[in-house]
Amino acid sequence: MIKESEYKKRRQKLSKKLHNNSLGIVFSSPLKVRSNDTHYPYRQNSNFYYLCGFREDNSALVFSKTKDEFKTILFVQKKEPSLELWDGKRLGVEASKQMFDVDEVYAYDEFNQKIKELLLDKNSLYTEFDIGDERIASVLGMAKNIYTHHNISHKIQKLRLIKSKSEITLIKKAIKITKKAHHDAIKFAKVGKYEYELQANIEYTFKKYGAYSDAYTTIVASGNNANTLHYIKNTKKMKEGELVLIDAGCEYEYYASDITRTIPVNGVFSKAQKELYSLVLDTQLKIISMIKPDAKRSALQEEAEILLVKGLKKLGILRGKTKEIIEQKKHKKYYPHGIGHWMGLDVHDMAPYRYKNKDEIALKNRMVLTIEPGIYIDKKDKSVPKKYRGIGVRIEDNILVTKEGYKNLSAKIAKSIDEIESLAR
Ligand code: GLY
Ligand code: MN
Ligand code: MN
Repeated sequence: MIKESEYKKRRQKLSKKLHNNSLGIVFSSPLKVRSNDTHYPYRQNSNFYYLCGFREDNSALVFSKTKDEFKTILFVQKKEPSLELWDGKRLGVEASKQMFDVDEVYAYDEFNQKIKELLLDKNSLYTEFDIGDERIASVLGMAKNIYTHHNISHKIQKLRLIKSKSEITLIKKAIKITKKAHHDAIKFAKVGKYEYELQANIEYTFKKYGAYSDAYTTIVASGNNANTLHYIKNTKKMKEGELVLIDAGCEYEYYASDITRTIPVNGVFSKAQKELYSLVLDTQLKIISMIKPDAKRSALQEEAEILLVKGLKKLGILRGKTKEIIEQKKHKKYYPHGIGHWMGLDVHDMAPYRYKNKDEIALKNRMVLTIEPGIYIDKKDKSVPKKYRGIGVRIEDNILVTKEGYKNLSAKIAKSIDEIESLAR
């Protein structure tokens, strides 16, 4: 659990980044329609959640900053028994006052009136920009006297880059549940089963151990499907001799995990599969070992490209000088994506990769990122020896940057060929 005092500290940090005489507004995520009158399960806006931990829709968090005062005001949906009968209990205004250490709480019905009052002595407005939201347009309509409008998301994202102890604890818990799901999947995989059966098994394990949701749609990609990076149909029958790439991670108490393992459907890697798998694994281990404060993601990416190209040359998949292959981007066909991304409240955590002046942000103590090299060889790629065609391998772990270097938070999830084959047995 994240304590009230930590949310308050985050808001205080944010307040230092806002102009005097400014109003900041972060809205809850809107409830999203699935079709007609059914909705997707509700998930709070991560920026909103980060600043107060409130989980209900139809709410807003408002910051009023003047020279002498910083106030946090929470707007929540008021209690309404007739709605609660259908959609569940709401905390309401009174209970929210007890639960959240904010300065004022009002019913969301009062939002427009209160915002008009709060805007009177302000000359800057901060909102999120990218939420494509009529609520923001409506506030802008009210903010006639405001002459600067800023993106509050940029300020919040910078705070989200460095994780607190309690955030790291939640990420570790998410990874622990994801570990069980991957290990069960390795044991459960079998020739003749469908990808969606594996998916169901994984998602069952997430829920069984208290992870309400996945952090992103589970990818179960057998055979050539692994070469579609965001394959989520998961409808194919798994066949003898194929690998299956499983990219699955649960969300626990709003924190993500993001793990990929690639395993043989029949429990044993073939020689060609071993060759590609070992190349990706060796690369991944080397890149992880480079992680420490002040290292740069771009350097990790460059090194991964060099290692993968050298390996692909050895296997007869690429030909030529490593440097030229990379300059001409010939390897991109086989390794088209980045080495990894920030992870936290979002699987691709909303946090910056560059400073305003475009300089890259180097790694720092308590950042969390994924390391996920891969090799993808399409079944129709005639330029590649036949034995490698239709194989896609990605291996992904979640890494905490520490003062001394790094800690692989998912190190206990089976990854070596021996570990995977013995679990499958
Ligand atoms: N699961 C999405 C990713 O690996 O980035
Ligand atoms: Mn990832
Ligand atoms: Mn992933």
